[in-house]
Amino acid sequence: MDRYCVFGNPIGHSKSPLIHRLFAAQTGEQLSYDAVLAPLDDFAGCARGFFASGLGGNVTVPFKEQAFRLADQLSERAQRAGAVNTLKKLADGRLLGDNTDGAGLVRDLTVNAGFPLAGRRILLLGAGGAVRGVLEPLLAERPAALLIANRTVAKAEELARLFADCGPVSASAFDGLHEPVDLIVNGTSASLAGELPPLTPSLIVPGHTLCYDMMYGKQPTAFNRWAAAHGAARTLDGLGMLVEQAAEAFYLWRGVRPDSAPVLAELRRQLAAG
Ligand code: ATR
Repeated sequence: MDRYCVFGNPIGHSKSPLIHRLFAAQTGEQLSYDAVLAPLDDFAGCARGFFASGLGGNVTVPFKEQAFRLADQLSERAQRAGAVNTLKKLADGRLLGDNTDGAGLVRDLTVNAGFPLAGRRILLLGAGGAVRGVLEPLLAERPAALLIANRTVAKAEELARLFADCGPVSASAFDGLHEPVDLIVNGTSASLAGELPPLTPSLIVPGHTLCYDMMYGKQPTAFNRWAAAHGAARTLDGLGMLVEQAAEAFYLWRGVRPDSAPVLAELRRQLAAG
């Protein structure tokens, strides 16, 4: 059996095994996919051990930067992201590092939500690893403007500098935000703590602005509750991005693109029931 896995610590709650097993059943691909709890002080050793026989692995918190350093070869989008969420063993045994997070977000927005990004004004909240991972794929869609806002404004400015050659990207502090936008993507981890960045409602055009939280939960996130309360046309959470980044990894490994819609529906059902 071809072996795949997801490395993380903790890993118990990862939805990746369920997603990839559903993809495999749907496409008839013969593979196994397990969760691997990698030791915090030896991700590289654990990954090398797995790849003695394994063919591919996803990488989640806190190992994406270590996977970036472990890979023998990097895709351009992984290079840009500075992080790897997907490893693939090549025919010669070397490891290819890729990053499918941004492609997953773009696909969830453009295909699943039917929201083309070209010509749009986008506001991206946060300047950590999650945001860095999606900047190049978002800019590749040719938005009119992409503004990064962060509590620590120097980190937003650094990202704007790093990605300046990819498109019209700029940085701001939260209190400098006033102009309405077409799309707000929350890439801060504030929702994890049930918190909300300090945002003015004037950013939302009622009935027009789409709001997207990269986080998800059984209940709507604090950001999406705020967005809905101020008239956002739609609020979406990151469950679609999770399934789409997995679909992109599955495609990289197997050359087969699974149908993500029924898998997303199953995850949504389980989330509501759990
Ligand atoms: P990740 O890899 O999930 O992006 P990270 O690199 O730790 O995690 O980044 C977390 C992001 O959420 C940062 O942009 C952080 O802002 P700072 O750079 O100023 O620390 C942001 N963040 C976390 N909690 C927040 C809060 N309560 N309000 C606003 N921003 C918050």
